[in-house]
Amino acid sequence: MSSEYPIITWKELIKHFKRSSLWVVVEGMVYDVTTYLDKHPGGEEILRKCGAKDATEQFLEYNHSNYARSILASRIVGQLTDEPPPHNYAQLLKQRKQRVKNPYQAVTWEELALHNTSDDAWIVIDDDVYDVTDFLAQHPGGMKLLLDKAGDDASTHFHRINHSQQAHQIMSELQVGVIIGIKPKKKQKQAPTNYVLIMFIIVVLFIFIYLFLF
Ligand code: HEM
Ligand code: HEM
Repeated sequence: MSSEYPIITWKELIKHFKRSSLWVVVEGMVYDVTTYLDKHPGGEEILRKCGAKDATEQFLEYNHSNYARSILASRIVGQLTDEPPPHNYAQLLKQRKQRVKNPYQAVTWEELALHNTSDDAWIVIDDDVYDVTDFLAQHPGGMKLLLDKAGDDASTHFHRINHSQQAHQIMSELQVGVIIGIKPKKKQKQAPTNYVLIMFIIVVLFIFIYLFLF
C-alpha cells in the first residue's frame, strides 16, 4: 500500500480508546477526535463508543455534512492498514475498556500466565498486576527485561533497580488488577540423578555378566 499518510496498524489503533486519546476510523482513514469530543453536536458519549473502532457505518448513517467532513480532515492521524483486524479485535478492545473501568479487578496466577507475549504482556509487582504491552518499547531498562517476566512475578527484579517516582507514576497508569491466590510452584526439572542411576545399574550389570561368562 503506498500512501502519503502514515500507516496505522490495528495494534496501534487499539491503544486509542480512552478519553485522553481517542481515535476513530472513517472510510479507511484514522482520525484523532480527542479534542473534538466535547464539541461534537451529536454528543460526546456516542463518539466515545466508537473509540479505536471503524465508525464508518455510524458516520454515514447520520448523514454528516461537508462541514463535519472538514472537521475530520484537520484531524487525520494516518491511513488504516490493509491488513484485516485480529479475529478477536472486538473482544480485546472490550477487555481493555473493562480494565480501565476497574484497574483493581482480581487476577489469578493462571490468568496472568496467559499474558506472556509481546502482544499481550502482564507482570506482577508486589501483588499488583500491570499490563506493560504498550510500554515494552518505551521501557528505559529495555524491552527484553520486561518481556522475560511477562506472565510472571517481576517484583524481585523490579526492586533490584531503584525505580524513580516517575516510574511509579507510569505504573499507576498501567495497573489492570491485583493478583489473588497462591503462586503455583514451578515444575521442578527432573533431576539427572535418575538417568545417572540407570546408567550405573546398566554398567554394573554388564560387569556382572562379563565376570559370569569369563
Ligand atoms: C468521526 C468524527 C465525527 C465528526 C467530526 C462529527 C461531526 C458532527 C457534526 C459537525 C455534526 C453537526 C451536523 C453536521 O454538520 O453534520 C454532527 C452531528 C451528529 N453526529 Fe457526528 N461527527 C462524527 C462522528 C459521529 C459518529 C461516529 C456518530 C454516531 C455514532 C455521530 C453522530 C452524530 C449525531 C447523532 C449528530 C446529530 C446531532 C443532532 O443534530 O442532534 N457522529 N456530527
Ligand atoms: C511497570 C513496570 C515498570 C515500569 C513502569 C518501569 C519504568 C522504568 C523507568 C521510568 C526507568 C528509567 C529510570 C527511572 O526513572 O527509574 C526504568 C529503568 C529500568 N528498569 Fe524499569 N520499569 C518497570 C519494570 C521493570 C522490571 C520488571 C525490570 C526488571 C526485570 C526493570 C528494569 C529496569 C532497568 C534495568 C532499568 C535501567 C536502569 C538504568 O539503566 O539506569 N524495570 N524503568
